[in-house]
Amino acid sequence: MKKLVKKIIPASVWVSARETYSKLCLNTVPAHLCDTKNLRPAAALSIDHIFSDPAIEQNWEDDHAAIINLYSNEDTMEGVNPGDRRALYYLISQLKPEAVLEIGTHIGASTLHIAMALKRAGKKGVVTSVDIYDVNHPEYGAWKRIGLSDSPRGFAEQLSCLGCIDFRTAPCLDFMHPTDRKYDFIFLDGDHSAQAVYKEVSAALSILAPNGIILLHDYYPDARPLFLDGNIISGPFCALKRIGKENPDVQAIPLGTLPWPTKQGSHKTSLALVGKK
Ligand SMILES: C[S@@+](CC[C@H](N)C(=O)[O-])C[C@H]1O[C@@H](n2cnc3c(N)ncnc32)[C@H](O)[C@@H]1O
Repeated sequence: MKKLVKKIIPASVWVSARETYSKLCLNTVPAHLCDTKNLRPAAALSIDHIFSDPAIEQNWEDDHAAIINLYSNEDTMEGVNPGDRRALYYLISQLKPEAVLEIGTHIGASTLHIAMALKRAGKKGVVTSVDIYDVNHPEYGAWKRIGLSDSPRGFAEQLSCLGCIDFRTAPCLDFMHPTDRKYDFIFLDGDHSAQAVYKEVSAALSILAPNGIILLHDYYPDARPLFLDGNIISGPFCALKRIGKENPDVQAIPLGTLPWPTKQGSHKTSLALVGKK
């Protein structure tokens, strides 16, 4: 039924209806606690310095070439765009977190970049990558549908970075709630609806290690288009707007533009940090 409705209704109408529904749903969610005691202050991160580190660039070139060799075509890869994958690699390389949590594995594009940076850092860091679906399933994994030659696990084996990844299949909030483990770096790239991001940021704060970092994907400042296609994903922005109103010390810090291309001929990124003022 959903497929039939999607075929009949133009994509722009479908997207706008989805976003309106997502905003309405956010209003029905009761206020969640945001415990910011472990969140790293925004002023403590010098992003420009991180993205211009020549030592990271050299490693990036080698690791990126190895990863792209497996995926074969960087531009048609689904998942986080090439420029954002590079930004993730630089952030992990510079910050050297030991425990990383990623929500939204999909085809593992971001996961492998995080894992390769962790491997280089040599601190036995591990990224726990959680997806609601079994991303490594031999028949139903997204990798198979897209026509990739191997699953994220298979690619990790080929890159000798499987030891840096712990794949988990679970809905994000189910995974976060019972865990006592704390994470230094949490990357949220799963369900982008406003109510999901609102709850996930609250849950992520509760499992953040001291001086920890939360990074969002698909944060469109002021819910305006970032790229030529005019597409908007408003959920993360709406969620952070509400969180900021309820917790004046919390703000989203969009990374803005990157020193390298991201997508559709742009250098803009939808990556944003959740920062403490
Ligand atoms: C945009 S994709 C992630 C792309 C991935 N980071 C990459 O670069 O390849 C979003 C993923 O989040 C997963 N997802 C959606 N809702 C989720 C939830 N509530 N909990 C866990 N994963 C979820 C989807 O199954 C999908 O694989």
